[in-house]
Amino acid sequence: SSSSAVAATAQSDICRVTVIGGGQMGSGIAQVAAMKKHQVTLVDVSQEALDRGKGYMSKSLKRVAKKKFPEDAKAQEQFVEEALSHVSLSTNALASVGKAELVVEAVVENLKAKQEIFSTVAQATPDNAILASNTSSLPIAKIAAPLTLPQRKRFIGLHFFNPVPQMKLVEVVRTDETEQKTVDDAIAFVKGIGKAPAVCKDTPGFIVNRLLLPYMMESIRLLERDVASARDIDTAMKLGAGYPMGPFELCDYVGLDTIKFIVDGWYKEGAGLKGNKLFESSKKLDELVEAGHLGVKSGKGFYDY
Ligand code: CAA
Ligand code: NAD
Repeated sequence: SSSSAVAATAQSDICRVTVIGGGQMGSGIAQVAAMKKHQVTLVDVSQEALDRGKGYMSKSLKRVAKKKFPEDAKAQEQFVEEALSHVSLSTNALASVGKAELVVEAVVENLKAKQEIFSTVAQATPDNAILASNTSSLPIAKIAAPLTLPQRKRFIGLHFFNPVPQMKLVEVVRTDETEQKTVDDAIAFVKGIGKAPAVCKDTPGFIVNRLLLPYMMESIRLLERDVASARDIDTAMKLGAGYPMGPFELCDYVGLDTIKFIVDGWYKEGAGLKGNKLFESSKKLDELVEAGHLGVKSGKGFYDY
């Protein structure tokens, strides 16, 4: 409705959002922004990837719509169509940022790839646009390093959680160079899309992943030591500790490639984490990733999907 459009703009001046990377996370970020009537452009490398991203959004929007309008198939369909009408798709990042007020990058967890994207698009974004990365583990300051100082002042981490439409938190990560206005505007945007911000310094893992990754890796080591089956470890943590998913379900859900990128990066060069045994990779994880078994997104990980 038009009243929610007004509410969204009243809380945040940001209207036009470009999301680069339309995988699990990027499509979720695009979706939640579109649900609040932001004008969203979702960018990926190929039409195939964009179609996949659109498929993720449709599926998730249908779940949301079913809850919002139970028993009303027409209203559900309209809700999905309305949200999707706020998203345009593009394979051209450079051409998609010219009017953006916020650019959120959510491509693979690779420093070079992220730096290249920002080096390419930063020059074409308006002078007051916020540049944000959804990285799980890479230093925000390193991603921003190739940019100019004025660009680095507008650079920030906006770390969403999977599944984006359901998880309420966004970590807002400031570097030593991020200016206060950028932090304030980012917080307003996060609140405007119905999420709760947690402001955090630019340190490995921020808050959630610094605590979650040791738990995931210790779970894999329990399995490798044959203490219990993956199924029993998952059951134990769900029923004994009240977690919504067990650690192996969660690893498969996040993506085993992403988990390996994270721990390998920290083990090799994480500030204060280098050589920390908590983040040493494991044979089991390496084998699964090597075989292309990346979890839910590839159809197989610790479990079959
Ligand atoms: N889109 C929209 N809604 C979704 C959704 C999606 N993709 N996935 C789940 N939901 C909604 C459901 O519609 C349902 O809503 P209601 O409760 O309002 O009815 C709710 O979520 C619960 O879903 P289900 O009943 O189907 O299943 P569940 O109870 O098992 O919950 C879950 C699913 C929300 C994913 C839950 O299992 C969970 O919270 N798991 C842990 C997720 C987690 O820890 N995420 C963080 C990963 S780490 C990360 O993201 C950071 C990183 O950098 C790696
Ligand atoms: P994913 O593999 O589902 O999606 C990545 C997408 O980026 C793919 O569609 C790919 O085609 C696209 N891409 C790659 N290079 C690109 C480029 N140069 N330009 C445009 N698009 C490009 O991965 P994901 O799980 O969505 O993770 C994306 C980012 O979000 C990573 O940095 C990851 O660490 C972070 N993250 C992941 C999770 C999670 O639970 N999976 C949670 C929070 C943050």
